[in-house]
Amino acid sequence: MTLVCLGAMVMAGKPNIAPMGSNILNVHLVAHTHDDVGWLKTVDEYYYGANMSIQTAGVQYTLDSVVTGLLQNPERRFIYVEIAFFMRWWREQTPATQKSVTELVRNGQLEFINGGWCMNDEATTYYDDIIDQMTLGHQFINENFGVTPKIGWHIDPFGHSNAQSAIFGNIGFDAFIIGRMDYQDIDWRLQDKQMEFMWRGSRSNPEYQVFTSVLRAMYCTPSGFNFEGGDDPIQDDPNLFNVNIQERAEAFIAVAQEYSTHYQSNNVLVPMGCDFAYMNANMYFKNLDKLIAYINANPQYNMNLLYSTPSIYIDAVNAANLTWNVKTDDLFPYADGPYSYWTGYFVSRPALKGYVRQTNALLHVTEQLMVTSQSSIPNVQSMFPQVEVLREAQGVAQHHDAVAGTEQQHVAYDYAQRLSIGQYSAYSVLNTVVGQLLAGTSSNPIPSMSFCPLLNESSCPVLDYLVFNTSVPVVLYNSLSWTRYEYVNLPVPIAQVSVSNNNGAIKSQTTVELDGSAWVTFVAEVPPMGYATYIIAPAQAEETTAADVAEAATPSVHDSQIVLQNPFISVRFDATTGAIVSITNVTSGTYINVTQQFMTYAPSVGDSVSDQCDGAYIFRPVNQEPTAYTTTNPTVSVVNGPEVSTITRFWNENMVQIFRLYANAYFLEVEETVGPIDISDGLGKEVVTRYNTSLNTNNTWYSDSNGMEMQQRIINYRPSWNYTVMQPTSGNYVPLNAITYLQDTNQNLQLTFITDRSRSCASLGNGELEMMLHRRTLMDDGRGVGEPMNESTQIITTTRIVFHQINNDAQSFYRPLALAHQHPLFPVFTTTTYSSNVWSSMYQGTYSPLNYDLPQGIRLLTLQWLDNSDSAIVLRLQNIYAIDGQDTVDTQTISVDITTIFAFYQVTSVTEMNLSATMKLAAVNRLNWNTNSANVKPVQPSLNGDFTVQISPMDVRTYIITLESN
Ligand SMILES: *[C@@H]1O[C@H](CO)[C@@H](O)[C@H](O)[C@H]1NC(C)=O
Ligand SMILES: *[C@@H]1O[C@H](CO)[C@@H](O)[C@H](O)[C@H]1NC(C)=O
Ligand SMILES: *[C@@H]1O[C@H](CO)[C@@H](O)[C@H](O)[C@H]1NC(C)=O
Ligand SMILES: *[C@@H]1O[C@H](CO)[C@@H](O)[C@H](O)[C@H]1NC(C)=O
Repeated sequence: MTLVCLGAMVMAGKPNIAPMGSNILNVHLVAHTHDDVGWLKTVDEYYYGANMSIQTAGVQYTLDSVVTGLLQNPERRFIYVEIAFFMRWWREQTPATQKSVTELVRNGQLEFINGGWCMNDEATTYYDDIIDQMTLGHQFINENFGVTPKIGWHIDPFGHSNAQSAIFGNIGFDAFIIGRMDYQDIDWRLQDKQMEFMWRGSRSNPEYQVFTSVLRAMYCTPSGFNFEGGDDPIQDDPNLFNVNIQERAEAFIAVAQEYSTHYQSNNVLVPMGCDFAYMNANMYFKNLDKLIAYINANPQYNMNLLYSTPSIYIDAVNAANLTWNVKTDDLFPYADGPYSYWTGYFVSRPALKGYVRQTNALLHVTEQLMVTSQSSIPNVQSMFPQVEVLREAQGVAQHHDAVAGTEQQHVAYDYAQRLSIGQYSAYSVLNTVVGQLLAGTSSNPIPSMSFCPLLNESSCPVLDYLVFNTSVPVVLYNSLSWTRYEYVNLPVPIAQVSVSNNNGAIKSQTTVELDGSAWVTFVAEVPPMGYATYIIAPAQAEETTAADVAEAATPSVHDSQIVLQNPFISVRFDATTGAIVSITNVTSGTYINVTQQFMTYAPSVGDSVSDQCDGAYIFRPVNQEPTAYTTTNPTVSVVNGPEVSTITRFWNENMVQIFRLYANAYFLEVEETVGPIDISDGLGKEVVTRYNTSLNTNNTWYSDSNGMEMQQRIINYRPSWNYTVMQPTSGNYVPLNAITYLQDTNQNLQLTFITDRSRSCASLGNGELEMMLHRRTLMDDGRGVGEPMNESTQIITTTRIVFHQINNDAQSFYRPLALAHQHPLFPVFTTTTYSSNVWSSMYQGTYSPLNYDLPQGIRLLTLQWLDNSDSAIVLRLQNIYAIDGQDTVDTQTISVDITTIFAFYQVTSVTEMNLSATMKLAAVNRLNWNTNSANVKPVQPSLNGDFTVQISPMDVRTYIITLESN
């Protein structure tokens, strides 16, 4: 082999890589900065470099400094990842700097990698949000630079999900590079050179597999080479003292050689950077220049050092044409030591987690309504900047220290404030859009709309107008693409109210609670992606007929068991304690016994075995068995009503449980008020709800991956390595985003739980399932946040429970219900002194922009503008059913004719895109990889002809469409 002086030949844009089979190791130096979109400081503190006493970090300086460094030497390369920061910087630059930066991107010196708004968390995020935040970042990059990132780079998130890998495949990424992997998992992979593999995370869509590479030693510069952080510079002038270049070069070569022993190709990736690095880029670049020149000039080292990027590295690994193992399980839970399971953050800051789920729902409502209303409200697109405020706040909130709950307290407040500003900005759009749609072309005054963000806390000030003989029309918007018949509960200040729609009075029930507060409950019927209006009126203000008057039920306690029953299920409760006893399928008589208990784990403060404390990230209970959280019997009250029957169990203001069974719904709803958690014990608590059932579950349970496919979980077991159990409780805890269930395969029975926010769950014994609801811990767990998670919030969280069969269309019992729970009917209120009849004749109380319900199983996931000038619209369709190996009824490919969907528009073009809507699908050209298992076909177009698409199970397809008003 002739050795060439490779260093001299490196030119930006065309890296020189020694081929596989040569005896040269390519050492890919990836200069990078890992910029948390909020953590110890807020996103804007990080951007400006404020609050340096907390952390020396200022992204504006990093970007200034990196750009200067790149312009000085065309061989240098750098990657940038978090677009929330880059956008802040870019809009401050002069046209001349923007031009230079554009050139750096064009010649490959500056490469966007990952390119989401943030580097999102994978355990606590919902798929709507992941897709939205990746789209937001990619659209920015595409608009300004005309490129799409090629590599996923999640080098810090604390575990990795199957849905995330498939989302990256759907975006068109060539690879996914990760930093953290369970210490037991990575041990064997290091030994067996299995640090790279093909990750086939979706059972339904194996074509979204993504080549995955695990970093050797996380994402920071190897020790001794942090040139910006106090390590020795490269000293190479023989006329000066302390020349160290040969010693430093050989030390670096040793690191690179050690790394390479764990990988199969003759390429190794060495990250050069860390959190908020390169504020003084010159200190890095100058020394790296010297290291590269020296090592490459000495052929005896057999090493080719180059400024590289993840995509150059991945191209080189691909060119080696090796054959890779396939992995199908996810990377949860993650432990970085035997007593350090990162399973606490799945639940940390549950109020923020709930808020993020609510603002996702609001964002969908707003984006959809703007697009569908443009034929009635021609200037509606001018309000786009207002919805962008919420988009960006939601994007920031997906960061792996945001919704994850691992930020400092003042940063948690900042995320919530951003969401709140975004929420009110969206409200102002909805005020205009809904008001104008209600008035339509009439000359009636455009109603002013109000909102009740604290509805779940029984606060809705506009409804208080009922006491002044004023009626309150409630516009209920449905952001799902099928008609919904759903129970609506609204707090009312008076017990006598009537509910009517434009056909007149409908049935309703007013329930008066023990504390005197009252709720009205009725069934709303709302068209797909449209709304229906229900007018709540003081009963005496209307012409009263028998049907108008809400039936007020009074609480009653039976002396034996309490039974709540509807035509589908009957649920028994203990009359003394109000505790659930059993659930029965009324049709078949099949039942299961169920008990439920609130329990608590005490957070560890370290012990003789390990000084690991429980904290924001880590769940380390003192004892593996929890103790009872509620030790006394609650006060139990029962309401039997025509629309809803409830059992309320009241311990104190900080612990309340309400079971609701609606007259015509197959699920049981349970609402729990938890917290503030008492810390008088000086420790804090992890509060769980534990269900024990008579199901024979064979050590198995299931939980969803970011709301998408279900993951099978087995107690004390990992599918891809021999697992040594160190933490029997926290080592079995996994993320739960929306759905978890137990199955008894012999009895063909399933018990499914649907949550309103991300939590965690575990099954620790046969027939048992527990979910953690809240946690408050008084120690810092040593993973950087530097604060105890001593959060004094109260949450009100709602879970729906479905008892059903496994084989008989099972997913149809929980998939649509789960979506409905994440996207509740969204209420917008106004007031009127007119009678219901008159108001209904003045205003268009229903709005129905779709021609029909989309086929069962198809969700219209996205309908949004790309920006405020372009008329192009992003449309995403999802098949919500998955191939899960058990339920075959619904898992079909479904056809949709896009031209027929919209009532007010003609669809004039449909272009199929990648998931982030930056590239035509036909232009996505992913690398091919050889695997040692059956190969899967590459992604096929779903567009069949000009306008008809075929969506296969759990697939999400993205289109850019243009609409013309009819
Ligand atoms: C890559 O490897 C495959 C299978 O090992 C082989 O069939 C193919 O010819 C190789 N391609 C190249 C370009 O070497
Ligand atoms: C439910 O519990 C009752 C009372 O303990 C018991 O008699 C019955 O066998 C149990 N049923 C099932 C299905 O386990
Ligand atoms: C129980 O689980 C084991 C291990 O996962 C599996 O091999 C077996 O088939 C299961 N049994 C039943 C009845 O599902
Ligand atoms: C209840 O039992 C009936 C009769 O076996 C069955 O058709 C129905 O699907 C069951 N309900 C659920 C929710 O599984």
